[in-house]
Amino acid sequence: MSSNGEALLKLMRSSPGEYVSGETISRQLQCSRTAVWKLIRKLKEQGYRFEATSRLGYKLLDEPDQLDLESVASMLNTKRFGRHIHGYDSIDSTQIAAHQWVALGKPEGTVIVAEEQTKGRGRMGRSWHSPKGKGLWFSLILKPPVPLPQLPQLTLLTAAAVCRVMRKQLPGVEVGIKWPNDLLIDGRKVCGILLESAAEDERLSYVAAGIGISVNLDPEDYPEKLHSIAVSMKMANGGKAIPREPLLASILNELEMLYDLYLEEGFAPIKSLWEALSSMLDKPVKLHTGRGVLEGIARSLDTSGGLLVEYRNPDGSLQSTTVYSGELVQLP
Ligand code: BTN
Repeated sequence: MSSNGEALLKLMRSSPGEYVSGETISRQLQCSRTAVWKLIRKLKEQGYRFEATSRLGYKLLDEPDQLDLESVASMLNTKRFGRHIHGYDSIDSTQIAAHQWVALGKPEGTVIVAEEQTKGRGRMGRSWHSPKGKGLWFSLILKPPVPLPQLPQLTLLTAAAVCRVMRKQLPGVEVGIKWPNDLLIDGRKVCGILLESAAEDERLSYVAAGIGISVNLDPEDYPEKLHSIAVSMKMANGGKAIPREPLLASILNELEMLYDLYLEEGFAPIKSLWEALSSMLDKPVKLHTGRGVLEGIARSLDTSGGLLVEYRNPDGSLQSTTVYSGELVQLP
C-alpha cells in the first residue's frame, strides 16, 4: 500500500465512526481533493468500505481482514510445517504456486497462502470459490518418503487434522468427514481438500496438499448455485467471525503432529482417527465409481485408505467391496 494510503487510513482510524472531510484529508496528506478521491477508490478496490457524503466527507466503515503471517508464525509449535510461508494477496491458485515453489527447491512444510484465488482448483476439474479475505486458501508442500499408492492415506490424514481443529474451534457443531476428504456441517461443505503429486519410480517425490476452508463467508458471498450445498464456519458459529491466524496455525500444528505419527507408526492410528470423525460410516451411501453406481452401507476404511462398502447382490446375499476413488452421496 502507498504511504498516502497508510496515512489516510491512520487519519480515518483516529476518528472511528466519524466523518472526516475531504478538505481535512487533503490538508493532512498535502495532496489535492482529486488525489484523495482516487486514494479512496483504490482502498475500496482493496476491500475497505467507506461512506461518502458530499457535505461531510468520508467515514471508514470496514477494513478487510488481512491475514497476519507474523502472528501465524508466533503461534506455530512445528519444526517444519509453516516455517516458510509465502503469502499472496491475489493468485490464480495456491496449488499452481506450490508446484512452482517445489521446482525452485522449497523444503517440505512450505506453505503458500492467498487472500483470494482467481482460479481456485477443486477436485475432478471443478473450480473452488475463494473470495478475498474470507477463507483460508492454502497449499502445503510435503515430501513423504512413501510409495505412490499411499497417496490416499495422506488425503485422509489431512482431512482428519483439519476436522479435529475445526471441532475444537466450533464446540457443539458437528463437523464430519465425508469420504474421502470433504468436511461437512449439517450436510453442507465447509472445507475441501485436493492433493496433487508427482512421483518417480513409483515413489512420491512431492505432494501439494491444497486446503480450502470457508471461514468467514456470509451467505451473500456465495454464488447462487452454492447456497444449498456450502456453509462457512462463521455461519455455523451464529454469524460470529472466526480469527483466521490461530486457525491456520492450529491446522499446521495438527497436520505436522499427525504426519509425524504417520511416518513413525504407519496408517493404523490415522485410520482410527478418521473413522471416529467420519459422518458417514454405517450409513447408506450411493457411490458413482468408474465401474458404475453402487448402493450400500459404508462400513470402514481398509488398511490402505479405501472405503469398504457393504451391499446386497440381487439374490440378497451380502458382499463388500473397497472403493478407492469416486463420488459419494449419502442417502437419507
Ligand atoms: C474440493 O474440490 O473439494 C477441493 C477443493 C480444494 C481447494 C483448495 S483452496 C487452496 C488450494 N488451491 C486450490 O486451487 N485448491 C486448493
